[in-house]
Amino acid sequence: MPTTAFLGTGFYVPERVVSNQELSLSMDTSDDWIVERTGIKERRWVSEDDTGTGMALSASVDALEQAGMEADQVDAIVLATLSPDHFFPGTGVFLQRELGLVGVPALDIRTQCTGFLYGLSVADAWIKSGQYRTVLLVGVEIQSTGIDVTTRGRDMAVLFGDGAGAAVLGTTEEENRGVLSTHLHADGRHAEILWCDAASSARHPRITADDIKAGRHYPTMVGKEVFKHAVTRMPEVVREALSANGLTTEDVDLLIPHQANLRISEMVRRRLGLPEERVYNNIDRYGNTTAATIPIALAEAVDQGRLKQGDLLALTAFGSGLTWGSALVRW
Ligand SMILES: CC(C)(COP(=O)(O)OP(=O)(O)OC[C@H]1O[C@@H](n2cnc3c(N)ncnc32)[C@H](O)[C@@H]1OP(=O)(O)O)[C@@H](O)C(=O)NCCC(=O)NCCS
Repeated sequence: MPTTAFLGTGFYVPERVVSNQELSLSMDTSDDWIVERTGIKERRWVSEDDTGTGMALSASVDALEQAGMEADQVDAIVLATLSPDHFFPGTGVFLQRELGLVGVPALDIRTQCTGFLYGLSVADAWIKSGQYRTVLLVGVEIQSTGIDVTTRGRDMAVLFGDGAGAAVLGTTEEENRGVLSTHLHADGRHAEILWCDAASSARHPRITADDIKAGRHYPTMVGKEVFKHAVTRMPEVVREALSANGLTTEDVDLLIPHQANLRISEMVRRRLGLPEERVYNNIDRYGNTTAATIPIALAEAVDQGRLKQGDLLALTAFGSGLTWGSALVRW
């Protein structure tokens, strides 16, 4: 059976840097509060000419270049986002069109912050089964155009950023290299602790002036509950992956956790007993870019030479759904 390897990684973040200070102009918050509770110093937010498709394209071109491949070598696209450019169709087909890949399947994944890992699991299965040889996997998010930037929405608004990350996945002949396993979970009992209620096809009509007045079109969160689930589920699913592969936390060379909040990543690190230098964080610069945090962080880690051949890379994510998961990769 072929093994799935990361052949190239890439990312794109919008040029516009939004500081905590800038946010404090439109809501009652402060740099001190945000840094202390979240570790975020700034994030990137899109300008009017940025789109999810455009950011996904830039990240994909970057990843293809690193893989030394042309777009026409891609056999399938998997794209994770909770903020598609349009209600439908998904952003995957727009990316496919931009890449000139008419006929190639494009699958959109809607598992929020865990989207990249769900996508990795699907891509890995396709590659291992021989159905597709090369899969372009993208996580892209535009949160800034959909959040409440007044004091009412400050708990959410300060957390989120925009960006895209991509990976080219393909088969490898090299022994002892590639995706070892993916472990995925969900628990819909807690769907409403982190969600966006409207526009909704369960409503008649999907959105009303009252919904907008009440802010139901903005995402909401029970922050403390989300926090508790995140710091429990991520270490748990990393341990599940390690144990399934006969490995321990001692074997992990680099952990890239979903960038939700630096305090969450710190607690995950401590619960796994990993030293600081074996965990990659960039939330201070980008905030939480949802489905894009892991591929952006991975691309940065690769660019910085943080992964060498044979290293054990652990990825873990947690998000709305609730959904969570992990992946182990022999680099
Ligand atoms: C959002 C989060 C940072 C809030 O931190 P917290 O310590 O739980 O703070 P609380 O929610 O208890 O709020 C404490 C106070 O700060 C206020 N507050 C919330 N956001 C604020 C902000 N941006 N600036 C200033 N004050 C803020 C609250 O209104 C509350 O005020 P009150 O005590 O007068 O009611 C934290 O709960 C968290 O990170 N949760 C997980 C979020 C997450 O990762 N989501 C994505 C998962 S994929």
